[in-house]
Amino acid sequence: MRLVRMALAGVLVCGALVGLGGSSSSPSMDQRVEALLATMTRAEKLTLMHGGKACGYVGCVDGIPRLGIPPLHLQDGPAGVGGSLTGVTQLPAPVAAAASWDPALMTAYGKVLGAEEWAKGANVVLAPTINIVRDPRWGRAFESLGEDPYLAGRSAAAEIAGIQSQGPIAQVKHYAVYNQETRRNTPGSDARIDERTMREIYLPAFEDTINAGVGSVMCGYNPVNGTFPCENSELQEKILHDEFGFDGFITSDWDATHSTEASALGGLDMEMPGAKYFGKPLTESTINVDESARRILTSMFRQGLFDNPPTGTLDTRVTSTANAAIARQIAEQGSVLLKNTGNLLPLDAARAGSIAVIGNGGETSVLSQGGGSARVDPEYVVSPYQGIKERAPSTTYQPGTVRADGAFPPVFSTFRTNFFSGTNLSVASGSRSDEVLDGSWRGGDPGTGRKSQWSARSTTTITPATTGTYRFSLSNTDGARLLVGDKTVIDTGWAEHKARTTTGSITLTAGKPVPVTVEYAQFTGNAVLTLGWLQPGQDLHNDAVRAAAAADLAVVVVGRFGTEGADLPDINLPEAQNRLVHDVAAANPNTVVVVNSGSAVTMPWAGSVRAIIESWFPGQEYGHALANLLYGNVNFSAKLPVTFPASLADAPAADPARFPGGNYSEGLSVGYRWYDTQAIQPLFEFGFGLSYTTFTYTALAVSPPSPDGSVQINYTITNTGTRPGAEISQVYVQQPPAAGEPIRNLRGFTKVQLSPGQSQRVTTTLAARSFQHWQNGTWARTPGAYTISVGASSRDLRLMGQVIA
Ligand code: BGC
Repeated sequence: MRLVRMALAGVLVCGALVGLGGSSSSPSMDQRVEALLATMTRAEKLTLMHGGKACGYVGCVDGIPRLGIPPLHLQDGPAGVGGSLTGVTQLPAPVAAAASWDPALMTAYGKVLGAEEWAKGANVVLAPTINIVRDPRWGRAFESLGEDPYLAGRSAAAEIAGIQSQGPIAQVKHYAVYNQETRRNTPGSDARIDERTMREIYLPAFEDTINAGVGSVMCGYNPVNGTFPCENSELQEKILHDEFGFDGFITSDWDATHSTEASALGGLDMEMPGAKYFGKPLTESTINVDESARRILTSMFRQGLFDNPPTGTLDTRVTSTANAAIARQIAEQGSVLLKNTGNLLPLDAARAGSIAVIGNGGETSVLSQGGGSARVDPEYVVSPYQGIKERAPSTTYQPGTVRADGAFPPVFSTFRTNFFSGTNLSVASGSRSDEVLDGSWRGGDPGTGRKSQWSARSTTTITPATTGTYRFSLSNTDGARLLVGDKTVIDTGWAEHKARTTTGSITLTAGKPVPVTVEYAQFTGNAVLTLGWLQPGQDLHNDAVRAAAAADLAVVVVGRFGTEGADLPDINLPEAQNRLVHDVAAANPNTVVVVNSGSAVTMPWAGSVRAIIESWFPGQEYGHALANLLYGNVNFSAKLPVTFPASLADAPAADPARFPGGNYSEGLSVGYRWYDTQAIQPLFEFGFGLSYTTFTYTALAVSPPSPDGSVQINYTITNTGTRPGAEISQVYVQQPPAAGEPIRNLRGFTKVQLSPGQSQRVTTTLAARSFQHWQNGTWARTPGAYTISVGASSRDLRLMGQVIA
């Protein structure tokens, strides 16, 4: 604190030196930046421009104590505080938040994220991810805000307001055309894209975040038309700074800097996480770095990082019941009801009868989040089974299938290992004894010769209930072994950081206790290790179908994981899960399917189940949110932020030359724009989602364009059903044919909460850009008639009007 005061004093003095003296008012932000800049050496400016000493956060920039410049602590990420920090809230995946179409809720999401990061001592939050979901196979689709630029832009702007209101700078990512993991950060992921598509589909959400005052931008991995984005002066200098008016700094994604001179001259201000290009090589160059230092300081001053530094540390517990309640609310507002034949839902607590929860996602392998840098370590996750059982204590559970990677249901719980904090193997239940081996069983990779740095052993005793063959599975990274008695049942071998599941079996005798020992060794980092088993005669599929037949209602939880670093090969759920849904539905006519996925999946059983819910990756409060929705304590209102095609072949980038080939030849036809233009019926269209009540749309009025080119429209929404509910009405604009646009573009939306019988007049202003397209290097308007459609989805259009613009 003393240092900060001294620095401020220094800045004020410098202010006077550069001609600010004589005034009693405090210097402006620009004056403070310039004054400070004038006192900095070149070496000090360079210090701000690259990763510094390890500080425990994902990214670290050294502070400059002489000038009171605080260090920067950059931390992931979009779904809660990442980087394996504990005591944090696992929010629903950003795609779930986007499905709420609710800017106020996005701000609440950002506030939780910003407040928790700040309280952990982070002053730059690596979020939100706003890249357009061009293809449902993108591994990071869950982390982003859907397929439409308008929805993504408005959602992101609201989230950034929330993040930055709590102290930290938000760093929006990943600029600019980053839509696949395959071959990322190499020339093989080059996006070959035309200017118009880039301007109309991939850049607008970034422009919205600049207009929302985001303090910083992360340039991404994938080249755009042959140039890596972090050295792309067209994208960074010309478009982001000159055109969009961004005056903050650009940080490279981790290892996305590929050059010194080209990057420094192309607009990159900060290399992360190291200093390979912006350390010594930049120091030794003659490149002027003033502008980069200026941009970094500008964002820091504007966000108040000098005057009001964060006080928390990495160890501060930052989660709270209030934040968990917001996580639950977002999961409720983000879960989409896709089918509800004969109003099976909501359940009547008094009459619902017995419930069977089925599927490994229902309890043993809950898909509450996606993977990669967006991963968050919560204190708990409420499973669907747990949430439903709290309402209906007689609810039963059957996993139904092995986990997608072949893991059997867990023996008792999950072993958590944490190399960084040096904690032991631990399990939440079951008696055990643990021992940190500190390298005594080091193992190592015979290929690389690298030795693991940490090892541990955990032993427990099990008493078999029956005599017969017990099958075990061990899911781990690096190397692990399972010993039952004195027999090695599984030896996974060595593969650094590679997640995998290995199985083995052994015959055991009923009633005879036997020690079960897991040994684990790890190169670096931390990981989760799971020990699963199948007992003699256990048949997961048949046991589940029997449980479904015996219950009044079956809730099958299915899903598919998604993660940074890998795209999905297809959009199908694992075959065993589809077979499970099919057989459960045949055994029980009252089957509800709940899907956890980061984006669209196919649903070959959609016609044979009564209800379908898409819950995305819904965060730590999953089970409570689901129960509130199933029982109608909360009404569904979310709508799909991505199209669900009937099959992958129908998708816009299905052609391998497009995805992952990098040819963006589908052009503007991204998401619903493609399905509309090609007249392909999707399984569920963009913007679709049901409610427990019904709404009518009436009385559209379209005003003539204002002098600034915007158009105001009004319409009335009425709740015609019997329950309170919120309706998200969507406004699409169709341009005159000469504009060469997709059939419809989303240009507005409003969410209104209505009691039964209540009406509300909605007023929306469609910005001038709604009536323009990119042509010859500028935004152009085609003279003619524009059709304005208002509806409950991109295909359920209820009102139409026209404006001559
Ligand atoms: C991801 C970024 C993330 C960074 C730091 C990169 O691999 O692409 O989104 O912020 O790692 O964890």
